[in-house]
Formats: sequence, C-alpha cells, structure tokens
Amino acid sequence: MNNRRIQVIDTAVEMRGWVTNAIGRVGLVPTMGALHEGHLSLAQESVAACENTVATIFVNPTQFAPDEDLDQYPRTLDADLNQLDAIGVDVAFVPSVDTMYPNGEEVTIQPPPVARRWEGANRPDHFSGVCTIVEKLFRIIPADIAFFGQKDFQQTRVIMAMVRQLGMDIDLRVCPIVREPSGLAMSSRNQYLTDPDRELATSIHRVLREAQAAAQVRSSSPQAIAREAETKLKDAGISKIDYVAVVDPDSLEPLDTWHPQSVMVVAAYVGSTRLIDNMFLTS
Ligand code: PAF
Repeated sequence: MNNRRIQVIDTAVEMRGWVTNAIGRVGLVPTMGALHEGHLSLAQESVAACENTVATIFVNPTQFAPDEDLDQYPRTLDADLNQLDAIGVDVAFVPSVDTMYPNGEEVTIQPPPVARRWEGANRPDHFSGVCTIVEKLFRIIPADIAFFGQKDFQQTRVIMAMVRQLGMDIDLRVCPIVREPSGLAMSSRNQYLTDPDRELATSIHRVLREAQAAAQVRSSSPQAIAREAETKLKDAGISKIDYVAVVDPDSLEPLDTWHPQSVMVVAAYVGSTRLIDNMFLTS
C-alpha cells in the first residue's frame, strides 16, 4: 500500500477515456522515467498551466540503436511515481512495449528534414523512433499542451515540425534546461558518470558559456567560435566529440553569419557516456 494520489494507467483505452472525461486543460509531460529536476520542472509547468496533468513513463525501444543503452537505461518507477505525485501530477501513463507497439514496429513516422543533422546524423533511426512514439502518445492522450525540455533542442524542433506537418492540434512548450550547481545539464544518463567524469563533464557548460560571451560581442564568426569551442573541449580532456556547431534555431543548419537567436549544440563522450547540451548564444 502507498498513500500516493497519482493514478497509474497502463492501457490506451483507459488513458484516452480519462482524458475524454477530464474537465479543463490537459497538460502532457512525455518522459522515459528516471526522473530528475529537469523532468520535474516540466511537470511543475504543466501543473501550473493546466487543470490536469498526465506524465508518461515509457523507455521507447525504437529510439535506441542496437548498440545503445536500452537495457542499461535506468528504470526507477517507484521513485518516479512518488516525485510526480508530490508535484500534483494526476496520472502516470506507464504502458508496456506491447501496448505501444502491438505488432512490433509496423508503422513509423519519417522525421522532418530538421532531424537530418547532428543527433539524426549520429543516431540514424533515433528521430524516427521519437516521432513515432510521440505521435502515438499524442493520439492516446489528446492533450492541450505538451511540455518538452530545451536540453533535447533538436528533438523540440523535430516535434514542432511534425506537429505542423501533420496538422496536430496541440500546443508545445519548451522549458529551460535545468543544471546541477556545477553547470552540468540534468540528464538521466548522468547516473552513468563516475566522479572524475562528472568533473570533466562540467567543461561542456564552461565552454558553452565562453562561446556565449564571445558571441555576444561578435568577436568572430559562428563557425570560428564553434571551432574554438571544440578545441577547448579537447584541451579539457574531452576527445570524443560527435559535433559542436552554431546553428539556426529553427532549421538547425550551421550559421555563417550571426542570427539573433543563434544556438550552440554539442554532443560528446565523457568516459563512455554520451552527453548533449546546448545554449542560445545571442539572445
Ligand atoms: O525526451 C525524451 O525523454 C524522449 O525522447 C521522449 C520525448 C519521451 C520520447 O520517448
């Protein structure tokens, strides 16, 4: 027995029925669980903005490549439910893989062009998996507003493009990155970091801040600042870098000249853990 008020639903029929009967706005917070302050800030935003909040907890197998961490991905359901309950989330939708993919992966969403570079180039089927699951969740939970974190910057743009392209009737809110006091962006994968890794990982935030300071005085071009950031990461000891780029906030294309909202995006390995981060440089 527990004293949680949060309702846990695991079938699509029950979930859709709950939303249909809900009075007032419904906010949706899609997650893969292993919740941290970043996820909880999304849930708090939803609880503040909507009369009803549904959080989903589903480790979506189709967005992991065969050599990625699907099996190790942290699963902390009990603690997740306690945290969501404490914030006032009404429902946790916790479906099984069979519920979300009844016959395996028969129908998939082809992601929009904004998915091509960066994460899309380094993790080829990732955004197809993300679009497919988010589209399914939006159908099962026809919410008014869905909340996503800026930490997965490209993911937010991919989902915005999908919603526009498919004419889906849902508002999207992107909430700021939540960082540890060291500057490290909160991520479920931070649990894989050893103490020395954690120390090293803080260089990513430092390098982003330095790039931001340089961009604000336009001391050099976006590409030169990206190259300089890459060198600084390597000098700090982060040698395996998937990308460091300064990009247009909508198209995610690399910038030759400054945009009022230029964004630096980074993906790099610290030890064996792949971390991503980003920062608006010029807004
Ligand atoms: O950002 C995530 O945690 C996942 O990509 C999402 C949006 C829950 C889809 O599985």
